[in-house]
Amino acid sequence: MKRRSFLSSGAALGTLASLTAGGLSRPALAAGRDRLRLGLIGTGMRGQVLLRELLRREDVEVVALCDIEPIMLGRALAMTEKADKPRPQSYGQSGDKLAYRKLLEQKGLDGVIIATPWELHAPMAIDAMNAKVAVGCEVVAGITLQDHWDVLRTQQRSGTPYMLLENVCYRRDVMAVLQMVRAGLFGELVHLQGGYQHDLRAVKFNSGDPSKPYGGGVEIGDKAWSEARWRTEHSVQRNGELYPSHGIGPCAMFTNIHRGNRFTHINAFASKARGLQDYVGRKMSAKDHPNAKLKYKLGDVVTTTLACENGETILLQHDTSLPRPYSLGFRVQGTDGLWMDLNHSVHIEGLSKPHEWEDFKRYQDKFDHPLWKKYASAAEGAGHGGMDYFVIHAFVEALKAEAPMPIDVYDAVAWSAITPLSEQSIAEGFKTLPFPDFTEGLWKSRKPIFAFGDKY
Ligand SMILES: NC(=O)c1ccc[n+]([C@@H]2O[C@H](COP(=O)([O-])OP(=O)(O)OC[C@H]3O[C@@H](n4cnc5c(N)ncnc54)[C@H](O)[C@@H]3O)[C@@H](O)[C@H]2O)c1
Repeated sequence: MKRRSFLSSGAALGTLASLTAGGLSRPALAAGRDRLRLGLIGTGMRGQVLLRELLRREDVEVVALCDIEPIMLGRALAMTEKADKPRPQSYGQSGDKLAYRKLLEQKGLDGVIIATPWELHAPMAIDAMNAKVAVGCEVVAGITLQDHWDVLRTQQRSGTPYMLLENVCYRRDVMAVLQMVRAGLFGELVHLQGGYQHDLRAVKFNSGDPSKPYGGGVEIGDKAWSEARWRTEHSVQRNGELYPSHGIGPCAMFTNIHRGNRFTHINAFASKARGLQDYVGRKMSAKDHPNAKLKYKLGDVVTTTLACENGETILLQHDTSLPRPYSLGFRVQGTDGLWMDLNHSVHIEGLSKPHEWEDFKRYQDKFDHPLWKKYASAAEGAGHGGMDYFVIHAFVEALKAEAPMPIDVYDAVAWSAITPLSEQSIAEGFKTLPFPDFTEGLWKSRKPIFAFGDKY
């Protein structure tokens, strides 16, 4: 069939349907539960966005909240009250950093969402899994390589469900491209790109005023508020791809990583670090402030390359300290064409005019994912253009059905371990390192389950 008629006849979607029927579909679902009792650890800026999604659902009861910052905890409690939901038990008001363990002991808790600073994700997830409380963990999974092995081993030993809440995998255009990849529009995949290219200077510094979490000051650490309290320290102490999952998540799903493919090698380069010092001293006119003299280890642009078992290369860029509009910089390229998100454009040989970009809209409409078709109106108003609805939906539906998590512990640890491995590569002179096989060979036989059909 000619490629143009393949696209226009709907045969591509027919092919998808037969692929699904032919063994790539989700495993049979257990009878499952129809309602979940969930807790939330970390009710800061992100926790509140996720809480809003949980409170909108009829199949979720938010029964426990924990934060050591009373203002954040108070805001979350006010949200549940405003939503006219029963008041959850609350933990952490006294500032006890281990209060979350009390939350984990609460009777009847089915699962917990973790939305705390990065360094707390692994210990909190490990404690939750050991307590048999299912985990939906915000990105990242851990800090050191050992953290990632510990998260994996705990999940394997306990059998407790664990999902990384990587929302970009559910972005509408990303999911349409996934449909196109599965339908073979790009031919055989060869090279992919993604990243986290987001000017975070106003996230990394603020005045410490709880009503202004972004910008308006140059404080970090204890004097600051929200992410500037903890995230900036990572830019001071570490040099690597510090936030890999928004970029690698979709690329890993496109290339079936851990489902017939795997990362084999990694290396990373870091540029010089200028942006943060320059922001504090020159842009914020605070040249005498200690943060204008602080040495930030994080290179302004960190470029990481991964090689895959099936021959694809994946390039990630972390770019958070310089002025720039937001872009994750996706590119999916195969033997028959490519998509790039920056200019919403696509080129498919045989469908597009030779050497010309086409607007992505026609493809977006044609390959819109069944999940988006079904839930677009439910997702309206949800965070990040709706994708936050889908990531919570996926966690809740998989947990209710007692089905495998669509972004599981192998995905979580491999995507997130890019950070310590990129740090090691840079520290050792941009050395190419072997990528650990967290699946220990299982990648050969595992089948794709992410976003097949219209359930989750
Ligand atoms: N997926 C996304 O699009 C997205 C967007 C923003 C943030 N995030 C992630 O969400 C997480 C939280 O980010 P944020 O912006 O909400 O940061 P934040 O600083 O606003 O919130 C973190 C909260 O955790 C609380 N906390 C710290 N230690 C605690 C402890 N021991 N027990 C209980 N609570 C504790 C803090 O008091 C704070 O309220 C991070 O991992 C971040 O990377 C993801």
